[in-house]
Amino acid sequence: MPLVNAEEMLKKAKAGHYAVGQFNINNLEWTKAILNTAQELNAPVILGVSEGAGKYMCGFKTVVGMVKGMIESLNITVPVALHLDHGTYEGAKACIEAGFSSIMFDGSHYPIEENIEKTKELVAICKERGLSLEAEVGAIGGEEDGVVGAGECADPAECEMIANLGVTMLAAGIGNIHGKYPANWAGLSFETLDAIQQRTGEMPLVLHGGTGIPADMIKKAIDLGVSKINVNTECQLAFAEATRKYIEEGKDLQGKGFDPRKLLAPGYEAIKATVKEKMELFGCVDKA
Ligand code: 13P
Repeated sequence: MPLVNAEEMLKKAKAGHYAVGQFNINNLEWTKAILNTAQELNAPVILGVSEGAGKYMCGFKTVVGMVKGMIESLNITVPVALHLDHGTYEGAKACIEAGFSSIMFDGSHYPIEENIEKTKELVAICKERGLSLEAEVGAIGGEEDGVVGAGECADPAECEMIANLGVTMLAAGIGNIHGKYPANWAGLSFETLDAIQQRTGEMPLVLHGGTGIPADMIKKAIDLGVSKINVNTECQLAFAEATRKYIEEGKDLQGKGFDPRKLLAPGYEAIKATVKEKMELFGCVDKA
């Protein structure tokens, strides 16, 4: 199946009270692990690419080529959206040109008027090209690829304004944070989420910072209208732990254990296990 935008899968998720996972990719192993897991579980999936990861993977065009090639050669038939994560205005335009099927424009650090203005312009471009567009209100806390957010709860009235611009999905800060949650984290603000959902109706809501949010909070967030959940750090931690174990056990020194196809295999399997666990928790298994 060719790349699809995220609109249909998210509308189905909202109506069916489950969430589609966005898993960020960093290289070939990541992409292959996520695509193969989605196919095995018959789940729709969104591949997230931050601007930093795009640069690391030699540019957005390389990413599009890799993902499209893999979908074909791995016989991936579940719906796959290739999505820019936390895009700048310029990054969004570059990904549209490179062939991404979905864009996030993160204008949350601009004054709301400027966020509205820029989002509006991108809504028109994405509509014309058949791409889905995610907008953001209220910065997500923590640090991701050098982008630091203070972590705040979005203003439901501002969420309604952005939702009414015709975006496909809306990310709203509800106390969530990228990366690991600190021990004194207050948890998600369900009060804010509920107020946002009431003002934005059918709009699929996006929960960033999916790493480390307890299962009961994830379930409650889905009940309150979250239809897309982003996970990045948890796959990185799983990959690093499995790779460290392989080396600490001296396996790279045994036979041809240094061959990257062997060296990276435990990390690959660890990403697969993490993605499977999340897809089961989000309820998107067999929803392709
Ligand atoms: P985590 O790294 O906390 O899982 O967050 C991912 C994310 O929200 C990507 O936008």
